[in-house]
Amino acid sequence: MKKTLITAAALSAGFTLAALAANTEGPDPHVDVTLLEEGSVTQADGLAAWERIYEVVSHPRCANCHVDETNIPMWSGPTYGEARPHGMNINAGDSRIGAETLMCSTCHITSADFDTPPNAAPRYGIDWSLAPVEFLWYGQTSVQICAQMKNPDTNGDRDWKGLVDHLVHDAEAFGPVLWGFNPSGGREPAPYGLQAHVNDMIAWGAAGQPCPTE
Ligand code: HEC
Ligand code: HEC
Repeated sequence: MKKTLITAAALSAGFTLAALAANTEGPDPHVDVTLLEEGSVTQADGLAAWERIYEVVSHPRCANCHVDETNIPMWSGPTYGEARPHGMNINAGDSRIGAETLMCSTCHITSADFDTPPNAAPRYGIDWSLAPVEFLWYGQTSVQICAQMKNPDTNGDRDWKGLVDHLVHDAEAFGPVLWGFNPSGGREPAPYGLQAHVNDMIAWGAAGQPCPTE
């Protein structure tokens, strides 16, 4: 079954040979990007797209790494229920990669093969790390995250097209975004899927990045 899917994907124009070489059995990192003209999406449709974006980024598969300056990653394995601080006293430090104490990569090895048993340290194709502290999502409201994500001072200097680029390039590198939609070990994936999330980012951007007021 998987082989058939890969053959079909390999025939589709955007599927890169690099990805095929890196991981023949893993998740498909390919995303179709069709940018829309600014102003071509209504405020109402833009806000509806934002609500779905918020459901994704506040989901534990995304928010557990986008945490505050305490530098403590959150975890919610398949059976934990509510997210809680990472076990084993892990602290990422100001480096956000654990350089001050214990490197995240000690357990979270770098591998494009996402397949791990339940409760094992998850992994992806680039070095494991918390997101920069200004990209704060964990415990934040829709209004707060919307303000963070549209402000170049707190989103890594990106306009909406830059945010779309980040999603696409992260997926090509088998990074955390692709992982969040395809976690293994019995974890619940972030909702809607990568392609739908990229489409929503484009719709929100083309609507002028509208934010809810409450
Ligand atoms: C294992 C940790 C980790 C997880 C899980 C994670 N991220 Fe991130 N995220 C990062 C890091 C590190 C960066 C900084 C990368 C950069 O700016 O180049 C980042 C940056 C981002 C950015 C850049 C702009 C901004 O405002 O934050 C977006 C968008 C993003 N992540 C989306 C997601 C989505 C969507 C998910 C879930 C599907 C997710 N991330 C899950 C670590 C993570
Ligand atoms: C001593 C080994 C070890 C180290 C070091 C470690 N982790 Fe983990 N981490 C784990 C294990 C094991 C799990 C899976 C827990 C489970 O699901 O039961 C995990 C899970 C996670 C998750 C949860 C994923 C999810 O969505 O539920 C995040 C986020 C995370 N680690 C971030 C980090 C960060 C950031 C660092 C570095 C500062 C780090 N970890 C260092 C072992 C480690």
